[in-house]
Amino acid sequence: MSRRIPWVEKYRPRKLSEVVNQDEAKKALLDWINSWEKGKPNRRAVLLAGPPGIGKTTLAYALANEKGYEVLELNASDVRTGERIRQVIGGSMKMGSLFGFRGRIILFDEVDGLNVREDKGGLAAIIELIRESTWPIIMTANNPWDPKFRELRDEAEVIQLKPLNEDDIMTILRRICNNEGIKCEEDALKLIAESSGGDVRAAINDLQAVAEGKKVVTKDDVTVTERAHQFDMFKVLDKVFHARRFDEARSVTFLPSFDWENYYPWALDNVPSVYAKSVDALSDALDNLSLSDVVRGRIVKTQGWELMPYMLELMTAGIALVRNKPPLARFVRLSFPERIRLMARTRESRQLRDALINRLRIELHASSSEVSLYYMPLLRLMAGSDLFKKKLLERLMRVLGYSMDSVERALGIEGVGEGGEAGGGAERKPKKGSR
Ligand SMILES: Nc1ncnc2c1ncn2[C@@H]1O[C@H](COP(=O)(O)OP(=O)(O)O)[C@@H](O)[C@H]1O
Ligand SMILES: [Mg+2]
Repeated sequence: MSRRIPWVEKYRPRKLSEVVNQDEAKKALLDWINSWEKGKPNRRAVLLAGPPGIGKTTLAYALANEKGYEVLELNASDVRTGERIRQVIGGSMKMGSLFGFRGRIILFDEVDGLNVREDKGGLAAIIELIRESTWPIIMTANNPWDPKFRELRDEAEVIQLKPLNEDDIMTILRRICNNEGIKCEEDALKLIAESSGGDVRAAINDLQAVAEGKKVVTKDDVTVTERAHQFDMFKVLDKVFHARRFDEARSVTFLPSFDWENYYPWALDNVPSVYAKSVDALSDALDNLSLSDVVRGRIVKTQGWELMPYMLELMTAGIALVRNKPPLARFVRLSFPERIRLMARTRESRQLRDALINRLRIELHASSSEVSLYYMPLLRLMAGSDLFKKKLLERLMRVLGYSMDSVERALGIEGVGEGGEAGGGAERKPKKGSR
């Protein structure tokens, strides 16, 4: 293997049907291109919007491929000179059928990467292009909701894509593993999918990093790369804390690996120590973080992804630009967030709990929610009560193949009854798997 092919390219869907999820977006795209083909475009351009790695560029190419269009890609520097745009508008009629294509689709990928200040007139040129082009135009953007793109948005039909859920991502990963002849544990795939935050590109890259060249991939293989992510988060936060300007702080959110769900606890846990010397800085940073959390709640509740940029800006620039910012060391001392540590520590007992519920569900012919609502409290009561009931529970559980120890852990009452240690005590014997 001389040069490895990135799996994100190797497995990039060529057809719309291979693009997982995004059904609404596909339909909107097809409707739109059909309207062009009928000679009456609804809108001359569409703008595919959504966070990184969810299939924006892929959809554009898949549509073109499937419908027999040639893709002509434009980028910021084309716009800067303006020349190429004129070429595209001017010369477009002659080409096209040359290679048997039905026509062209003009793709402007990541228009929001356009630096409106530097590329003066760039936006105007794109808008002109949209108004005059005889070819359908597809644009993509992570963040088209910035006010400076309003005019552009008005020219186009905005199609919002959604981050993929864990199951969708696992489906994609599983398909790749099968193709590569790799046996990958479900738990390993799940872990990768979980930590991708809906970004398929990140998930596939992670998978390639741990799986390429292997026959078998286990969960432990993945845990190792998870640590690499943690390292990234140190760098991200360091950059944010040192940022002097708004865009400098916000820029981390454009990193392909930026994971905002993970970022939040990191920021929250580290602000107090980094800004310990300035009450103003501390109060501003925490205010902004809490506001970002309010926005997050709203996004999740209403699926209002257009609010996402505000949330991201609040949690990055919002902690970088604060009053009386204390002087920072060259490398700020950052610590691993308690919440994630706790989640990792409780992962085992949460898994035990899920497994127990599932088993009881089958044995008792009840639903999972019935089991966790009615039976689990009962078990907890029995486990904590007098010797007789506890022995009864122990016997019942042994029939099902559970040791009392694992039942207690599943019930979250670990440590009870162990030589003098108070429940929830600070010192706990180190357990395998905790970091
Ligand atoms: N919905 C999807 N279904 C299948 N694969 C996907 C999907 N979204 C992304 N991918 C994979 O992730 C990679 C990155 O997707 P891409 O379309 O470039 O993302 P972006 O939204 O950032 O443009 C693709 O090469 C493809 O392999
Ligand atoms: Mg893209």
